[in-house]
Amino acid sequence: MTSATTRPASDYPPGGDAFRHRHLIGIAQLTPWEISYVLDAAEQWVDMNRSGAAKHDDRLAGLTIINAFFENSTRTLLSFEIAGKRLGADVVNMHAAQSSVKKGETLIDTAMTLNAMRADAMVIRHGSSGAVQLIADKVDCPVLNAGDGRHEHPTQALLDALTIRRRLGRVEGLTIAICGDVLHSRVARSNILALTLLGNEVRIVAPPTLTPPAMDRMHVTTFTDMDEGLMDADVVMMLRLQNERMDGAYLPSAREYHALYGLTPKRLEKAKPEAIVMHPGPMNRGVEIDSGIADHPTRSTITEQVEMGVAVRMACLDILTRRQRGVAGWN
Ligand code: NCD
Repeated sequence: MTSATTRPASDYPPGGDAFRHRHLIGIAQLTPWEISYVLDAAEQWVDMNRSGAAKHDDRLAGLTIINAFFENSTRTLLSFEIAGKRLGADVVNMHAAQSSVKKGETLIDTAMTLNAMRADAMVIRHGSSGAVQLIADKVDCPVLNAGDGRHEHPTQALLDALTIRRRLGRVEGLTIAICGDVLHSRVARSNILALTLLGNEVRIVAPPTLTPPAMDRMHVTTFTDMDEGLMDADVVMMLRLQNERMDGAYLPSAREYHALYGLTPKRLEKAKPEAIVMHPGPMNRGVEIDSGIADHPTRSTITEQVEMGVAVRMACLDILTRRQRGVAGWN
């Protein structure tokens, strides 16, 4: 594995000017240097998590973080919980069945209820695009978007960028193929924004029914043929078929989908020999990705992505709470 190239501090302004946002709603609000700033901050947590030293850092002691998840999650919820606890915060998880959540007044009421608990930060996942921004507008503390509908999943894109940077030594000037159910994927949207902003060539590889309209406006090239889309790619990022977001038949069958868009060893040969394979999880083995690739010891970055998720979320929680913690230079 190539070790990370840490950018010089001169790439971003000093103190609080390096990250001026109160909330983390989407990659769309970030500059390239803000992304680098988070990635560089996360690097130290990777090392400290590995050595066990992070357990002795309690910079968030005395803060209460609410994880309010209105949609199911395994790795995002757990990693935010571990990230907060590892930095000494009190972390409270709220799960709400999606069916009990309604839009409009109900969401605002929820925001007001959460606000009344006087949390120091909130991490929110919601099934509706825009819901996290709506809550952020109503509460007094920093809000981190853990995924809102099809809109954005910024910490996923940041952890993916960190994984790429550590594996390939850089996250610029690369050819990155994002493959599968792009239409329903907030992971794809946030990754397209982050990876194009950082100066990579991003390709979308999907069946026409799962390709969002007006992709050229997002500065990506679209492919419907998987072999063409993977040609000479440095990074192959696979996405899950998000059946729960499909309101009709987008595909003839999972079997046919696998035949045309599943990542098999033969298909992967089209990409560069050292290309890495990513997946945000959860995976549908045998549908979008073959097990032999998902478990490949050198090509697959899937478990490393989970590890980077904890480090990136520690960095985000630290950075976004600096103002209320009165960290020097962050007023
Ligand atoms: C993704 C999500 O929830 O958007 N998963 C994740 O956060 N790791 C992708 C998915 O559900 O397929």
